Amino acid sequence: MVPARDAFQRPLRDLRVSVTDRCNFRCPYCMPAEVFGPGHAFLRDPQLMTLAEIVRLARAFQALGVVKLRLTGGEPLLRPDVPDLIRALKQEVGLPEVALTTNGWLLEKLAPALRAAGLDRVNVSVDSLDDATAGRLNGRGFKVGRVLRAIDAAAAAGLPVKVNCVVQRGVNDGELPALAAYFRERGHPLRFIEFMDVGNTNHWAAERVVPAREIVARIAEHWPLEPAGPAYRGEVAARYRYRDGRGEIGIISSVTEPFCRDCHRARLSADGRLYTCLFAALGWDVLAAARSPGMTDAALESYLRRIWTGRMDRYSDERAEVLAAGETRPKVEMSYIGG
Ligand code: GTP
Ligand code: 5AD
Ligand code: SF4
Ligand code: SF4
Repeated sequence: MVPARDAFQRPLRDLRVSVTDRCNFRCPYCMPAEVFGPGHAFLRDPQLMTLAEIVRLARAFQALGVVKLRLTGGEPLLRPDVPDLIRALKQEVGLPEVALTTNGWLLEKLAPALRAAGLDRVNVSVDSLDDATAGRLNGRGFKVGRVLRAIDAAAAAGLPVKVNCVVQRGVNDGELPALAAYFRERGHPLRFIEFMDVGNTNHWAAERVVPAREIVARIAEHWPLEPAGPAYRGEVAARYRYRDGRGEIGIISSVTEPFCRDCHRARLSADGRLYTCLFAALGWDVLAAARSPGMTDAALESYLRRIWTGRMDRYSDERAEVLAAGETRPKVEMSYIGG
């Protein structure tokens, strides 16, 4: 196996696979209900990658250097074949790490089956512990208790859990210490994510971003923190340990401290388009390529390798210049590309 490197010598290590563009939540920062309503054209079943197609593509990506595969959505647990998919990715493909990002709504019941299928770990989103705020942030009025129970169930099933919290000024930033306290007590790393300008419909505004530095300072007022090195090169979250030894938090600072330099992630949308950046406008239709008659596994692998080799994306590094120039670049929606 010869690992693929892009135009800036960045290897390809991590593949994020969206298995559906649908979601049971309508978070205003991702799928605002007024945009993703009854009139929205979601992908139709024949457009979606089948389990076998995902497995075939995963094998080709593994040959390029991918060691970690993350299943995302929309909400990945809406797709009933996810446990079978995980089993195939672990046993047939033999990927060292298969992870899942979920909103947690369907996780409580599924956790044991996911673990039994070989899932290595799970990241669950919790933006607020307050039912009224959580209900607004999931766009459905759903109470947060069910997600918190799902996190307990996942941990009980033996799945390491990380929690993701998108921070917005004036929306949930008053809750940061309460969130930190809750997950510290339960031993789950909590990662605060700066509100990002993904997609075209989420009413992003720079004023609503709480910078990473401010988030760290606010938590450190309650529990002193010290920086911890990355768990692996190119980790998205910057980690901080509680000085009292009781766990850690992470900050995902795509806006104020971009991390494109080490970005080794590719994304596959549910209809099998390959995006080499979260903020890319266009994806490569690798599913069509895979489905074309006569496409051998070796040809598929070299096609994917060529795409990665030519990659030059570094949107977050360029964001300030793009915004200052008043440029608006078209982007894909996060629910489609898988976060
Ligand atoms: P770990 O493997 O547990 O470190 O997870 P992860 O951070 O790679 O995945 P997760 O799905 O939990 O993503 C958390 C947040 O980080 C989401 O908001 C993602 O959109 C964001 N994120 C992940 N990768 C990138 C990236 O390459 N660029 C940017 N800008 N954001 C990213
Ligand atoms: N900015 C930052 N994070 C976002 N997510 C979804 N939309 C945004 C956004 N605009 C988060 C979800 C989930 C992760 C995969 O991405 O809340 O935790
Ligand atoms: Fe669904 Fe996740 Fe998007 Fe919320 S952030 S609408 S849970 S895909
Ligand atoms: Fe990678 Fe694009 Fe995110 Fe930069 S903005 S870290 S290149 S996905």
